[in-house]
Amino acid sequence: MAVYKAPRGTHDIFGELALALEKLDVVARNAFKKRNFKEVKTPIFEDAALFTRSIGETTDIVEKEMYVFEDRKGRKLALRPEGTASLVRAYIEHNLNQTEPIGKFFYSGEMFRYERPQAGRYRQFSQMGAEYLGNPNPSADAEIILVAAEILKALNIKDIKIHLNSLGCSSCRAEFRKKLVEYFSSVKDLCQDCQRRLEKNPLRLLDCKIDAEKFQNVPTMHECLCSDCRTHFEQVQFLLKEVGCEYEINHKLVRGLDYYTRTVFEVRSSSVGSQDALCAGGRYDNLIAELGGPQVPSVGFALGCERVLMAAEKNGFFNNLNSEEKIFIAVADDELFSRAFSFAYELIENKDNIRSLCSFKNNITVEGPFSGKSLKSQFKLADRIGASKTVIFGKNEINAGKILIKNMTTQEQKEISYKK
Ligand code: HAM
Repeated sequence: MAVYKAPRGTHDIFGELALALEKLDVVARNAFKKRNFKEVKTPIFEDAALFTRSIGETTDIVEKEMYVFEDRKGRKLALRPEGTASLVRAYIEHNLNQTEPIGKFFYSGEMFRYERPQAGRYRQFSQMGAEYLGNPNPSADAEIILVAAEILKALNIKDIKIHLNSLGCSSCRAEFRKKLVEYFSSVKDLCQDCQRRLEKNPLRLLDCKIDAEKFQNVPTMHECLCSDCRTHFEQVQFLLKEVGCEYEINHKLVRGLDYYTRTVFEVRSSSVGSQDALCAGGRYDNLIAELGGPQVPSVGFALGCERVLMAAEKNGFFNNLNSEEKIFIAVADDELFSRAFSFAYELIENKDNIRSLCSFKNNITVEGPFSGKSLKSQFKLADRIGASKTVIFGKNEINAGKILIKNMTTQEQKEISYKK
């Protein structure tokens, strides 16, 4: 018999990780919703050209990492490697600039990149992201950075650093590009990717993992920023300082996608190894127009759920994932099974405020009853699932209109009246 395993670079999510992912989802949704971001769901696959156009032909994602396939009608499609391009496509397709007065959107879901798998880097991974469309003001950049930081803080992740840079607009970028080509042309033994990209996209060289050590005193974008871009960048920083948000300027931060203009940022953690970017984003003032929509300056970010949870775990977030009290329902005699079954139902539905009658918390999970098991094995099961209390249906007690509640930690039992 063939033994099937999850494909390389993918993983199954269950147990604690599934719980943690659910909590992250709640935390992020809360952070988005309280700032009036609205959810958008887009397909998992799109026209491959959408990503090539937006992310950029000479990026690693497009050159090496996209899952591209043809459907039965010969359409060239790709599994989405990120969410921004899809969201922008949906925004243009549904004319959302006309119906949504403030273009604040969020999304969550699986992304696919054919990367070399390692801890924190997968071929299928989840992102949650927010995009603020139509606000050119530095306050939108600051709001995006702050919502990212807030989510990480709510998950108790303390060891983070916000790396910030500006990539300027197309006019100041042209000067930077010239300086970079001049600089890189004088560097010997560039790797093959760098040689190839030098003419087409010299900014990508700043991101090269192989040649990074060779690049000393590289020109910085900061030297080339035009006065509008400089002011914009200063104001983003001013607003972050105003609310006490710490950051670090990183002149080498260029990001792996080509659509960015002006602000770019990454939030990195020191506790997760080499794949340390927990979330990242930036401004993309021309992308919507480049994809055939109106000129709508925008900014956004996405967090990688797996990486965020790795960091959260290191910071103790997994210690108290189970905040619910677990209640196990046991039957001493199978004759009482149907009564125990309907009691479980009443408890789940909290009929007649039965939880408070039993002195249970409001936040409970209910398990059982099971028939055909001895009371001893039911108690064992209750322990294994971590039940804090077991409700016992015994003949004598039921005849006296009572049920027993056993505290699984102290082993104490108390009777309460229970009349159906
Ligand atoms: P990105 O930097 O490519 O940006 O991805 C954002 C986050 O997704 C990363 O910081 C990382 O946490 C996670 N991530 C990326 N690749 C992987 C992988 N192979 N395995 C696990 N996690 C991964 C974007 O995707 C942009 N769309 C962000 C954005 C939104 N910019 C503007 N708006």
